[in-house]
Amino acid sequence: MSVSIVLGTRPEIIKMSPVIRELERRKIDYFVIHTGQHYSYNMDRIFFRELELPEPDYKLDVGEKYHTHGSQTGEMLKGIEEILMKEKPNVVLVEGDTNTVLSGGLAAVKLHIPVGHVEAGLRSFDRGMPEEINRIVVDHISSYLFAPTEIAKQNLLNEGIIEEKIEITGNTIVDAVYQNIELAKKKANVLEKYKLKTKEYILITFHRAENVDSPERLKKLVNMLNALEYPAIFPMHPHTRKRIDEQSLKIDNPNLSIIEPVGYLEFLLLLANAKLVLTDSGGIQEETNIPHVPCLTLRDNTERPETVEAGSNIVVGVEKDRILSEVHKLLNDKKAYQRMASSKVAYGDGHSAERIVEKIIS
Ligand code: UD1
Ligand code: UDP
Repeated sequence: MSVSIVLGTRPEIIKMSPVIRELERRKIDYFVIHTGQHYSYNMDRIFFRELELPEPDYKLDVGEKYHTHGSQTGEMLKGIEEILMKEKPNVVLVEGDTNTVLSGGLAAVKLHIPVGHVEAGLRSFDRGMPEEINRIVVDHISSYLFAPTEIAKQNLLNEGIIEEKIEITGNTIVDAVYQNIELAKKKANVLEKYKLKTKEYILITFHRAENVDSPERLKKLVNMLNALEYPAIFPMHPHTRKRIDEQSLKIDNPNLSIIEPVGYLEFLLLLANAKLVLTDSGGIQEETNIPHVPCLTLRDNTERPETVEAGSNIVVGVEKDRILSEVHKLLNDKKAYQRMASSKVAYGDGHSAERIVEKIIS
């Protein structure tokens, strides 16, 4: 029995880390193919180091050289196919909705190797998003669909995927947070380092193509950043930085610190101690609920409706006035804040990776 894991971006490394640990624990033969979609130290290597993951067995060098969706996906597809033809694994596991996931799934299915999709069944119902296309394609070519929640399973059933292929496992992000939060707490100097006080700052991240590749939406978000009147920190994704520079947009607000992306342990601490979070990230919408931090999502929709239904997340769009009015409300209305902070999303018990590994070996 040999398992191949294909990953390539920050959230895949984080969310696959519990699966890798479980494969190690059960002494199952596996190998990791890293597409290199993310390649900067603080988007890639830092996670292998902090999470104590073994080095990838294969490394493609795609992200640094290829920037368009087609060229990136095509190069990864070619590289992964070559490796799979040589290694002939019994199953290929991919996680999430990136171009790496699309390439890994396609390469495997065309070689008749079964694909297991971790985090299957998420839908924003917005086909303008590259992630939505990747999710739909990979779900429909997978043999094992590891849906995090009942809603995700229902989305798959609605698209005609047969029930026998679907397993509700919870989300491996819960495993990752539980496995790393204690380690993170040892980094007690993080708040001092960034001159922040517990529960007295907003944590911001945005990087999604729909926001940063659209000059109008990016401008609106930058205007919002410039108008924030509360201490805030923004570990800025390189994609966002690139677009802000290209558009020559100016961020100028003494309340806001812009820093480089941070490692997972620092990020978990920044998250757990934040008063609230503004983000367009998928993983962060899920993670905020675990340490009970309210989340405002800087998008027009979400493929994580569980968080909105539970009350821990509000989809606020990118209009400055709407965002600032929600921020103001949360900072001033204790009851509204408490309602969001105390809601609980059913993303699992921290044992999702065990269920995934059990299913593929059984
Ligand atoms: C990708 C995923 C997105 C996911 C995100 C996680 C796709 C289509 N998008 O978006 O769904 O939410 O990863 O973070 O797969 N860059 C660097 N260093 C890096 C990585 C990227 O400088 O290590 C810069 C490069 O200029 C690159 C740009 O960011 O061209 C975009 O990177 P890319 O991997 O294409 O998309 P992400 O925005 O990272
Ligand atoms: N994250 C991190 N450092 C940062 C920003 C985010 O470790 O500076 C982690 C975060 O905890 C979450 C994951 O990266 O687990 C989310 O990745 P990202 O927002 O890049 O992608 P998405 O989830 O939107 O695909």
